[in-house]
Amino acid sequence: MLILSIESSCDETAVALIENGIRVIADITYSQVPIHATTGGVVPEVASREHIVKIIPCIRNLLEDNNISIEDIEAIAVTSRPGLIGALLIGVETAKALAYAWSKPLIPVYHIWGHIYSVYLDRDIADIHLPAIVLTVSGGHNDIYYFKNHNHLQNIGKTLDDAAGEAFDKVAKMLGLPYPGGPYISQLANEGEAFRHDFPQPMLDSGDYNFSFSGLKTAVKYAIQKVDIEKEKAHIAASFQEAICQTLAKKVIQAAKTYNVQSIFVVGGVSANDRLRDIINEHTHNNYSVLYPAQKKYCVDNACMIGSVAYFQYKNTVVEGENIFSIAAQSN
Ligand code: KG4
Ligand code: ZN
Repeated sequence: MLILSIESSCDETAVALIENGIRVIADITYSQVPIHATTGGVVPEVASREHIVKIIPCIRNLLEDNNISIEDIEAIAVTSRPGLIGALLIGVETAKALAYAWSKPLIPVYHIWGHIYSVYLDRDIADIHLPAIVLTVSGGHNDIYYFKNHNHLQNIGKTLDDAAGEAFDKVAKMLGLPYPGGPYISQLANEGEAFRHDFPQPMLDSGDYNFSFSGLKTAVKYAIQKVDIEKEKAHIAASFQEAICQTLAKKVIQAAKTYNVQSIFVVGGVSANDRLRDIINEHTHNNYSVLYPAQKKYCVDNACMIGSVAYFQYKNTVVEGENIFSIAAQSN
């Protein structure tokens, strides 16, 4: 089953062709990062306007460059929430118009589930074992899910304030690094000592799977005020990265133990962080199967993951012999 998928929830205009939820036939991601870097963060109005300009050319190129005709496509998937409302609307309205014009089922996708299913891309399904505990860590979200099966995906923890990626971005700004800060902190941290500053690892004893990074951010802010920032920059980056990654790793492993699962998925922009991967590895001692997106480009926002979750949702929404999304398409 070939799905055309669209993602426009934040600052990437992304489209993809995904077969059976796993195989990426083709994908295009137009990133607005260089534009938003000039203002140090995403300006929603600017993001919406960029999506308007790029979305149709992206879809046209995707189909033409890969010789895909309208008949080859079985359904259209689109991120419907959460995200910037103006940005989401561009993707959703485009998908609705195409689904109507081409008489295809339209599958709305919850963006965070997209990140969760990003582990299915380019993988053999036999290598993915459920139930799993999933850590979703990006700029906009920071959750833990219990993924029992395709019909049971339960949120068991979330951030009470900033998401991990947001904390990376804000600390990067304090250190005078460009946007988005995660990759820059990670690079700078390679030159610093991870235990030079004893930053807090918040909420490890909270008895739940929630996170809070505002105290950690404040600790970094005070540390910066006390030192010669140019000399200490790399140590602060390394110590901050250590504190946040230790917290994420310990919490997700606590959840895996409590829910008695053997699989852990780590997804979202921050899952590209090498130190986070090393720490998880150090703590799990090969007792768990830990899966990350197969390619780093699937960690950050992309349309491939939207096509993946859409396929599995589609397959699991058959009511009285017919798929509810197909019924909706027929009644157009
Ligand atoms: O998943 P994503 O593209 O967007 C959201 O859905 O939010 O994630 C973007 C976030 C940014 O905050 C960025 O700084 C962070 O992921 N990020 C990283 C790394 N690469 C991207 N954070 C830490 N280390 C990285 N290597
Ligand atoms: Zn995302």
